[in-house]
Formats: sequence, structure tokens, C-alpha cells
Amino acid sequence: MRVIAIVNQKGGCGKTTTTVNLAGALAADGARVLILDMDPQAHATLAMGLEPDDLDANLYEVLVEPAGASRLDSVIIDVGDKIDIAPSSIVLSALEQKLAAERHDTRTERLAVALDTLQPLYDYVLIDCPPNVGLLTFNALRAASEVIIPLETSFFAIDGVQKLLETIGLLSDRIGHELSVRVLPTLYDGRTRYARQTLGDIRELFKELCFDTVIRLNVKLREAAREGVPISVYAKSANGAMDYASVAMEVAASPPEQRPTSDRSADQEESAEAGPPREVVVRFTDAEAGDVRIAGDFNGWVPDRGVRSLIASEGQNRVWTKILSLEPGTYQYRYVVDGEWREDPSNPQSEPGPTGQLNSILQVH
Ligand SMILES: Nc1ncnc2c1ncn2[C@@H]1O[C@H](COP(=O)(O)OP(=O)(O)O)[C@@H](O)[C@H]1O
Ligand SMILES: [Mg+2]
Repeated sequence: MRVIAIVNQKGGCGKTTTTVNLAGALAADGARVLILDMDPQAHATLAMGLEPDDLDANLYEVLVEPAGASRLDSVIIDVGDKIDIAPSSIVLSALEQKLAAERHDTRTERLAVALDTLQPLYDYVLIDCPPNVGLLTFNALRAASEVIIPLETSFFAIDGVQKLLETIGLLSDRIGHELSVRVLPTLYDGRTRYARQTLGDIRELFKELCFDTVIRLNVKLREAAREGVPISVYAKSANGAMDYASVAMEVAASPPEQRPTSDRSADQEESAEAGPPREVVVRFTDAEAGDVRIAGDFNGWVPDRGVRSLIASEGQNRVWTKILSLEPGTYQYRYVVDGEWREDPSNPQSEPGPTGQLNSILQVH
């Protein structure tokens, strides 16, 4: 069971949208997902088609007293194919005051303790957090082992993130568990130069902590929330659905323990035993693309990991040459073009991958 908190102290950066639609995309892929709505505004609860005022129970009962932990199971509601939710309500905003007299370490572990009482029925638990770093967010961070920070690709997006990372770092030191953090660019409007620049800055700043997928502006995401369903149900071929399917693929492809670290010598040694690797060269040509990377089963779907790149101009076009070192075998791959995952347009050989998108096939003899 992977527990992922969706955190940013800013409102309107896409936390709830990411929680609900990543849940939808993971479930569409066959995973069982639980959403924990930790925001008193209950937007995730609403976006999953529930009316908070009509519900008998919510996370408040689970968190307000130690004995509530065992009640988590009873507040969970089935809201769709493979998706359940533990709903929120405005009363959650009273929790901070209610627990003010309690010791910091016991009042911030309530959610973690409650999660421990659950049968391991779920592959993923996604926690939607409120737009501040208070008691509710601390509870989410203690319960989680992974964090996704949605970052709006517009003005001032990066302000405050450094501080948030610091807080997360301090917290993981104090509670003695490592939190693996990733940043997800959201609300991206590729038509504006400012957004493109900000995306560049985000990538530069966060490097491999940044998802390769970028969530584009897509009005269907708003409509789906109003309809009370994830976009994978509301409009599965909309850009928003593609983008969240792509994030789901990235999340599924790299659980934290398989994430690249600075020490990559271990896996290189492993592959050396299987036979002599060969240099394989592939090319991608495009007039508009700014950033082209390659990801496949040969590099754990981490774009450009272990790949040498050359860029050249050819008339109107730019040509990206990717040099891979591969042992004989058959491999699947895709290009990541300005954050969007695409099959290789020059390769007629492809196969549907786990999310139904086509992966290109590479054979090394
Ligand atoms: N990629 C997107 N395209 C269009 N609208 C979006 C997108 N992501 C979020 N929104 C809308 O922006 C608003 C804020 O998003 P939300 O996910 O609620 O942010 P947060 O939970 O961080 O406050 C909502 O109305 C939501 O529907
Ligand atoms: Mg929200």
C-alpha cells in the first residue's frame, strides 16, 4: 500500500484535481485506490459526487479522539469502480483547536494510526490536503511515505516551495521516516511564453524530483469535478485524462525504492552480467519541440536516465539523437516531448502499454 500526500500550502494549484484524477487514472489501470479528504472545504468529497452535509460520518470522528482510529473503516464510502473515499466535512476545521492541548507527536500521528488499522485492501492511498501546513497536513505527512507537490506553472508558483520542502525535510528528520517528494507542474498553458519559462525554471530547480508529465489547462477537468467523477470517467480522451494517465504511469513505474539515486553503479553492474551491451541510436525530429527525452523499460521509464543526447539543427527542424547502451533483447519506449509522452512517430512497431497507450518497440540483435 503506497500512501501519497498531495501537499502545497497554496490554494488553487491543483491539489484536489490531482488527488481525484490521479485516483481515477490509477483505478482505470486496475489499482484499488482510497482517497482521504483532509481538507475541511471537502472539495475532493464533492468532486467524487458526495454532498458532505448529507453524510453521517467523516474523518473528524476518526481523528478527534484516539479511539476513533478504528472507525476509519466505517467512514469509508465506495464512490466508483475501485475508488473509495474517507470524506471530509467543515467540522474538520475545528480539529486543530480541539487538539490544541495535546502533545505535538500524538496529535500529528492520528491519521497514521488510523491507517494502520485498515486491512491492506488498497494499492494506493491518496491524501488531499488543505491549503496550509497545519495539523491536518502534518497528519497527512506522517501517514505518507510519498509526497506530490502540485505547482501551478504561472506567477509566483515557486515562492514558498523551498520553505515547504524544508518543512517536509525537518518533519521527516523528526519522525524518523523518509518522505520521497516529487513536484508536478499543473495548469500549464503552453501558449504563453511565461508558462513555458516557468516550466523551464521548475525543471531546472527540481531536476529529477519533477514529474516529466505536465498537467495542461483543460476545462474538462473543471467539468468533471462538477459532475462528481474523475476525468477518466467523464471524458477519457480529453487532454486532462491523458495527462493524469501519464502521471499515473510515472507513479506506477517508480515506487520510491526504485527511484534513481545519485549512486547508480549498482544497477549498471547488474546489467553487465547479462551480456555485452551495444550502442543503439534513435532519432527524433521536430520543428516545435523544446525538450525531448526518451524513457523505456531499459531505464525504468525515467526519461533520459543512462542516455546520451545530441541535439542538432536540420533546416527548420531540430534533431535529437539518443544513444542507448542496450543488451540484445526487445524493449518498449516512448518519447517525452515537452512533458508529453508520445510514441515514436518514425517507428511503425508499437504495442499497447499498461494504460492502453502505444509504446514503441525497439529490437536489439
Ligand atoms: N489542469 C487544469 N485545467 C483547468 N482547470 C483546472 C486544472 N487543474 C485545476 N483546475 C481548476 O482550478 C481550480 C483549483 O484547483 P484545485 O484542484 O481545487 O486546487 P487546490 O486543491 O490546490 O486548491 C479548480 O476550480 C479546478 O477545477
Ligand atoms: Mg483542494
